[in-house]
Amino acid sequence: MRAAVVYESMFGNTATIANAVATGLRRTGVQVEVIPIELAGADLLRDHDLVVIGAPTHALGLSRPSTRADAVRQGAPTGVEARGVREWLEDLADAKSVQIATFDTRARAMRHLPGSAARHVAHLLRRRGYDVPPATSFYVAHTVGPLAHEEEARASDWGAILGHDMTSQAA
Ligand SMILES: Cc1cc2nc3c(=O)[nH]c(=O)nc-3n(C[C@H](O)[C@H](O)[C@H](O)COP(=O)(O)O)c2cc1C
Repeated sequence: MRAAVVYESMFGNTATIANAVATGLRRTGVQVEVIPIELAGADLLRDHDLVVIGAPTHALGLSRPSTRADAVRQGAPTGVEARGVREWLEDLADAKSVQIATFDTRARAMRHLPGSAARHVAHLLRRRGYDVPPATSFYVAHTVGPLAHEEEARASDWGAILGHDMTSQAA
């Protein structure tokens, strides 16, 4: 079984969660690649049994060039703002049998707000015909991080659940 965890990250928190999800998947024997969005190809869905997509929530949904520029003004490194999950999805080639899961990171202080990058991704992919399970959110303590307590461990456990589901469906 082959999985990819593809992520967008401006301040590094979504990258940390992506790696924790991959650790959990590996615990169940799944072979996993972790791929930053800058390096994610258009054929990713065709090459994997499971693709996990993670992104930071910006302005209640997926980032745009303007919100990424805003993140840079708030101290995020330059160079990662050129392309996000939104743009990658536009170029992404479809595949029939791949499983998809989505997560995001969000500010804990804004958890009462409805916006979620992962729900946005799930919505776009459902419109393309994919069966995407409910999105999962992980929280940062402040806008630029760090991650809230225990979120990395929760992400690893979530990865293990995805891996168990995948291996039991294949059995
Ligand atoms: C421009 C901008 C807009 C944001 N909008 C939201 C928002 O609407 N809701 C929310 O919960 N968090 C929001 N945040 C906080 C981000 O979700 C947080 O920076 C992100 O989870 C950090 O992930 P990263 O380190 O991978 O970039 C925003 C952050 C930035 C920079």
